[in-house]
This record gives sequence, C-alpha cells and structure tokens, in this order.
Amino acid sequence: MTPAPSPRWLRWPAGTPTQRFAYGADYNPEQWPREVWHEDIRLMRDAGVNIVSLAIFSWARIQPGPEVWDFEWLDEIMDLLHAGGIAVDLATATASPPPWLTAMHPEILPVNEVGETVWPGARQHWRPTSPVFREYALKMAAAMAERYAGHPALAAWHISNELGCHNIYDYSDDAARAFRTWLTARYGTLDALNFAWGTSFWSQRYSDWDQILPPRLAASHPNPTQQIDFKRFSSDVLKDYLRAERDLLSRITPDVPVTTNFMVMGETKGMHYADWAAEVDFVSNDHYLHPGPQGLDELSFSANLTGNIAGGHPWFLMEHSTSAVNWQDVNAAKRDGALARDSLLHVAHGADAVCFFQWRQSAAGAEKYHSAMVPHAGADSDVFRATAALGGLLGELREVVGSSRLPARAAILFDWESWWGAELDSHPTSRLRYRQEALDWYSAFLGLGVRADVIHRGTALDGYDLVVAPTLYMVPRTLAKELTNYVEGGGHLVTTYFSGVVDENDHVWLGGYPGALRELLGIRIEEFAPLSDGQGVALDNGCAGTLWTDRITVTDPAVEVLSSYRTGDLAGRPALTRRRVGRGSATHVSTRLGVEGLADVLSHLLGEADVSSELPEAVRGRVELVVRGSGTAAYWFLVNRTDEPVELKKLKGELLAGTAGSPTPGPVTRVVLEPRGVVVVRKPGSAPVAESELP
Ligand code: GLA
Ligand code: GLA
Repeated sequence: MTPAPSPRWLRWPAGTPTQRFAYGADYNPEQWPREVWHEDIRLMRDAGVNIVSLAIFSWARIQPGPEVWDFEWLDEIMDLLHAGGIAVDLATATASPPPWLTAMHPEILPVNEVGETVWPGARQHWRPTSPVFREYALKMAAAMAERYAGHPALAAWHISNELGCHNIYDYSDDAARAFRTWLTARYGTLDALNFAWGTSFWSQRYSDWDQILPPRLAASHPNPTQQIDFKRFSSDVLKDYLRAERDLLSRITPDVPVTTNFMVMGETKGMHYADWAAEVDFVSNDHYLHPGPQGLDELSFSANLTGNIAGGHPWFLMEHSTSAVNWQDVNAAKRDGALARDSLLHVAHGADAVCFFQWRQSAAGAEKYHSAMVPHAGADSDVFRATAALGGLLGELREVVGSSRLPARAAILFDWESWWGAELDSHPTSRLRYRQEALDWYSAFLGLGVRADVIHRGTALDGYDLVVAPTLYMVPRTLAKELTNYVEGGGHLVTTYFSGVVDENDHVWLGGYPGALRELLGIRIEEFAPLSDGQGVALDNGCAGTLWTDRITVTDPAVEVLSSYRTGDLAGRPALTRRRVGRGSATHVSTRLGVEGLADVLSHLLGEADVSSELPEAVRGRVELVVRGSGTAAYWFLVNRTDEPVELKKLKGELLAGTAGSPTPGPVTRVVLEPRGVVVVRKPGSAPVAESELP
C-alpha cells in the first residue's frame, strides 16, 4: 500500500503566523467587477479569512486563445489579496478547458459508454488519457507556475479541481489505447489476461491486444474483471495526470506544497483516494452534507476516513457549504449552528483548514443557488455573521493546529476494491450498497458513543482491539492472511454477508463461501439467500434482517452460534456466528441488520473486545466525541448531534472554546451544549473527559 503522505503543509506568507487554521473559500473574482474585489478583501478580513483558492475555473480568462495570455487581472487580485493578508491556494486553472480549445481539438472530449461524445458547455469535459489535452493543460499549469513562482501570497498549488468528478469514466479511443498499455503492464502476457478475465466464458478469448476495449455498451453483461480493471485503470490514469501536473510544479516551485481536492463523500467511489494520497503534500477534501437521518454520521464517516487516508496528518477541508447546495433534489438550508458544527466536526477529525465553496454567491451560472460565505443577501445576513463567528472561533482554537487524531480502539475497514467489486451487475442482489453497510456500522458505533476509526485497506490492524470489515467482498490471499494473523494475534474481527467471496481477479474462492475466510470463521456457506424488497427475517435475538441471508453450516466446533434465524427459509439455521481463536475471535453477520440491529450486536462484540465508551452513559449517542492530541495535551471535541440541548456533567478539563452559548474558556465541569453545539476541552495527556456517572 502507499506510504503515508509527507506532512508538508501550507507555505504561509513570510512574517505571518503559522500556528493557525487556514480559513476561507474558493474565490472566483472573474465573475465580478473590480469594485466588488475591494469589498471582498474587506469582508474577508472581517470574517477572519486568511486563504482563498483562486483561478480554479479561470483558464478561458487567462488564456483567451492559443497564443493569447491575460494575467494582468490575476496579478492585480493576487496583489490585493496579499496586501489584505490573505494567502492563496492557487489553482493550475486546468479544470475546465476553454471553448477555443475544444473547438480546435474536439478529440479531447470524453466519450461515454454508448459512444456518444460529451460536449463542452459545462465543465471538466476532457479525456484523462488525451495527449492533446495534457499538452495544453501542462502548458497552462507551467504558465501559472512561472508567473507566480515568486509571489508572496502563494501558499500552495491546487491541481485542477475534483479530478474525476465528471470525467472519471471515458470510453474513447484514447482510453482504449491507454487501457491496453495499462493491461500490458499489469499482466505481461495475453494468456495471463485471458486467465484473469476468465475469457473462456462466452467466447471472449483475446488473440491480440488490439482487440481489447474499455467495457463499452455491450449486448449483455460485460465481463466483470474487465469492469474491475477498467475501474482500476480509470483511477490510475487520473492519478498519473495528477502526477504530471505535480512533477511540473515541483520543478518550477520546489518550495511550494501541492494538493488537489479529493471527494471522500457519499457514493463518490471512482477515485481510489487511499492510493492517491501519497502523491500530494497534504490531503485536501471536499464534503457536502446529504440531509437525512444519517447525514451527520456520513459527514463524520467521511472526515474520519479522510483523516486516515492523510496518514493521521492534518488535512485541508477544501470545500463544504455554508448552507444549501444546488445539486441535490431538494436543497435544504442549514439550521442555525449547523455551519459551525459541520466545520468543527471536520476539524475534530484532523482538518487544519476550513474552507467553503465559495466566497461570494454567484449571480449567474449553474451554481447561483448554491450558498456561499457572502450570500445574495450580502454581508448583512445570518450566513455571513455565522462565517465571521466561525473565523473568530477558529482563532480561539489555534493551539489545536498541528495535533493529530488520537486513534480509537475499534475500526471499520473500508476497501475501494470491495466497493467496486461488490456492486457489479449479475450478483445475487442488485440492492447491495457497500458503503451503506459500512456507514450503518459507523452509525451504530456513534449511537453507542464509541469512537471507531474508518481505515482503508493497508492500514496496520494490530493497534485495534476490534475491526469490523463489512462486505469485504474481494479478498486476495494476502489480505486473508493479514486478517488471520490479526485474529491469531488476539484481535476481534467481524465480517458480514458477501465477504471473502472472490480474489483480486473477481474469481470465486471455491469449496463453499466465504472461501478466503472460511477457515478463519469456521463456517461454510453453500448458497446465498438474498431477500426481496420488503422481505424481512426475524432472528432469535430480537433483531430483524433484510437484503441478504446466508445458508450457513458450522464446520468448526469452536464456533458459537450467537443467533439463529427464527423465520424465513433459513429458520433454525445460524445467522450470527463467532469462532474463538486464542484471545481473539472471528464473527460473521450474515444479514443486513440496519443501525438498530447492529447496535445490539455491536454492544455485545464491544464487551467481548473490552472496548467501552469514553462518554458518560447519559449522553451516548447524542454527543460525538473525537479526540486530537499533541505531545502534551489532548483535545476532546464534544459535538451535539441532536437538535436539543445536551447537558454534559462531571467534565474534567479546561474549556478551550466552543460554539455560541458555550461557557467562557477555563476550567470546566459542566456544559450544556446548545442544539448542534460543539465544545473543545483540553486535558493533559489522554485522561478520560468525564468521570463515569454515579449510579
Ligand atoms: C464541487 C466543485 C465546486 C462546486 C461545488 C458545489 O465541490 O469543486 O466547484 O461546483 O462542487 O457544491
Ligand atoms: C440463457 C442463455 C444461457 C445463460 C442463461 C442464464 O438461457 O442461453 O447461456 O446465459 O440464460 O440464465
């Protein structure tokens, strides 16, 4: 797996403090007349903004024609920002090719799986594998780097923007050529590829590399291994593009750190960010809340995973929203306090930068109904006042900057390849959602008030007492070995339905499921028994299952049946099993239990693993606790997850700062968290935040 990224952080302008949160937004001054720029700088200062991401979509403005360059406006804005004490995370401006380029070179436009060209008119209409696009884009990036190499405001480079957001899958002829090159490197020989892809099936055997194509629209289900490899390839070619820009920047400005904004959020799954992280100086992430019962849990889950992808080093929240977005079905405004709570939850999980999309809400264009720091209503608005208050609060929290997140004792193992593999077509059910199962486990942990790290495959497991690996579909031999070692070393492992089923080629491990983990779990599954929509089964522990069941036979006498099916076709058969291995154990959960059912099972498993909540019982589930630590102090972030006040008693520590309505900083024993409120309590070392409740 990739090594942890190097912790090179922003290059703050000379003479300015480094011990501070970066705070700001995407700034698109090209959408506004000059007069507004001066007001922008003034308001930025009022709001405590100290950094902006600039020129992300400025290509057409900077280079209006192949040989025409217009930097003066950007020089002016760079100077204005610097004079205002605001640093710049400067984009390479390559995210969206200008109309003249696509008119001149329509061969850079992506092609969808049907063979239709994706036309310009929005953004990111370029093929990741186009040599022509790369040539023009690198010329643009080089022009930016040369122009601003010595500019005092330049604090970091922002490569492109959300690489792969709209163009991760391109099925063009360029892609086909690059795919063949990638496959040649992976397999070496056609025989190896034919074996891996299982091409004896449906007469798919290739006799020449040139016959191989991306998985374009086919008459029936395309080859699954071809699909998996195309996903791997598509992530890799964008990573390669990222490297090309980065290498160029590192040559011209070796002292300026380089980043690009990831999208660890929701169902965005095409880019294997755990694999990309080592390519940047610091990890940046964009996150947008999806309202709904698990909305905040998902924010926490994504921030948590981002922190781990960043190797525990501080990371940069490049974008989130002050209030509504414009691209969901219904775009809800945030409730009072949610702006600060959402921001601080990212900070709790290791963000040392809090930025929004965008600074000033656009008056025109597709995103004009997307919130910003300065809304359409102007600075005389609750949103602007809330952003200014957050700027102040981040100032009070500055000593947290640079601390890392304190690892939890439990973890959820999250694996991109299983995500890709488990959701392919032609499976026992099309309803399975990999990330949803992982998120349900995370919600169960939150409900019990127990911290859990969301870790990617490759993270060392031995520090964890309990590891849940939900729907770990794709298990190569090495991973099976790693999990076995973990359990034999005393760890408690939990797997669920559709785990350990295939190897890295998506070939089924034979002899009964879950082939790769059969021995470790001490069970054998002859058939999967997925459930139809609306169909449920009852378990004898009182829980209910949906989506899936497994026809389990226990094969090892050391296996204990924790619970059996009470109803349905499998009534009387095991539903949850645990095999003890020395001090460790391997548990299998064969159905979808949902958050409530998982909480039940999890509290039992936590007991076995001797992991308990660090929160007083009265607030578990209502408050999320995340801990950051430096050498000498621990910072306990206590986040009210509810819309009601929550009283925290018997606190031990010093209140560093909190959102509106919090007590004044200083020694604290009791806090009433406002709805959606957050406080940060500092403690020496890592002593518990509260004394345990009296009976
Ligand atoms: C993404 C993009 C931004 C903007 C926001 C809107 O994060 O990077 O340019 O489009 O979405 O939510
Ligand atoms: C058809 C085809 C078979 C197979 C089955 C699967 O009958 O002829 O090759 O694909 O469907 O149900």
